[in-house]
Amino acid sequence: MVSFLKKNFLFLAPMAGFSDSACRRICREYGADGAVTEFVYAGAVLRGIESAFEKIAFCESERPVGIQIFGSDQQELADAAVLLEEKFAPDFIDINFGCPAPNATSAGAGAFLLKNPPAMYSMVSSVAAVLKRTPVTVKMRTGWDLSSILLPDAARALADAGAEMITIHGRTKSMAYGGEADWKLIELTANVSPIPVIGNGSVEKRSGNQLNSSACAGFMVGRAALGNPWIFSEIKARMHGAEFSGPSPAERASLALRYAELVSNGTRSGISRENISHAKPQIMRFLREAAGFKKLRANIKNIKTLEELREMLCAYV
Ligand SMILES: Cc1cc2nc3c(=O)[nH]c(=O)nc-3n(C[C@H](O)[C@H](O)[C@H](O)COP(=O)(O)O)c2cc1C
Repeated sequence: MVSFLKKNFLFLAPMAGFSDSACRRICREYGADGAVTEFVYAGAVLRGIESAFEKIAFCESERPVGIQIFGSDQQELADAAVLLEEKFAPDFIDINFGCPAPNATSAGAGAFLLKNPPAMYSMVSSVAAVLKRTPVTVKMRTGWDLSSILLPDAARALADAGAEMITIHGRTKSMAYGGEADWKLIELTANVSPIPVIGNGSVEKRSGNQLNSSACAGFMVGRAALGNPWIFSEIKARMHGAEFSGPSPAERASLALRYAELVSNGTRSGISRENISHAKPQIMRFLREAAGFKKLRANIKNIKTLEELREMLCAYV
């Protein structure tokens, strides 16, 4: 059972290359109720590829947290799910049927499965059959393109196959990340689905009324949370009809530093206190709206260590 769900539950979306453990922890601290790890290839999990486990590793404060897997082979997905259940004890295991990237679709995985619903359903039932105590959930798009929309029927079939929650990104694969998410279809599905539906797709643009009157059990926020974990409090304030005041430049700077500290603790290869170069794009995101950012950005380009960053941000904090 996805027993942790409560009304208007807010998830941080899985975002490959961005929603690392540091990002997930910060979003949880700033109002997200749960998170999903970025997707990992089932085959990589089974081969014990270290970088796959790095993406998955989470700390207790991130719970409830789901691990997301993708693949094209149902046996591989089931075996990977068993391994992950044993090794990490996540709160749920999510199967990705939404990734539009050619490296996923050309391998018959991610959004490619939207073209073959029976294969989706058997993947879900294979995974559900082998998990001992972990719910299996699904994240999908509405269909491959506008001429092949799968919802709401797929919700019933996925529930019959053993899925316990569906996150619907209200865009088709063909739309990638552009255009409007189809919230009418998300709501229609949530109204008839036997299992909880989590609505996804530019949630930050939904009004308080739309969110409060939704048939969805919760919502998932993606891009709007990048460098902006305050979005969760903003959305919650909107739901409660309360005012929200955004972060000051000092708050942005101190959160940028906290992110850098968390991410440089040695859990992500290539990033350490002595070399935070690979974390700089993410650090910049926290600062993007801070006053004086232009000058700061130029200066941050030239630094390498956490200590240098700390010194630079001291002027703001
Ligand atoms: C950079 C990036 C990486 C993403 N990686 C994943 C992923 O690993 N798994 C997944 O299910 N969706 C992934 N997504 C899709 C998001 O989870 C989300 O469904 C999508 O961005 C729509 O939500 P939004 O409009 O709030 O951004 C990714 C999106 C972006 C922008």
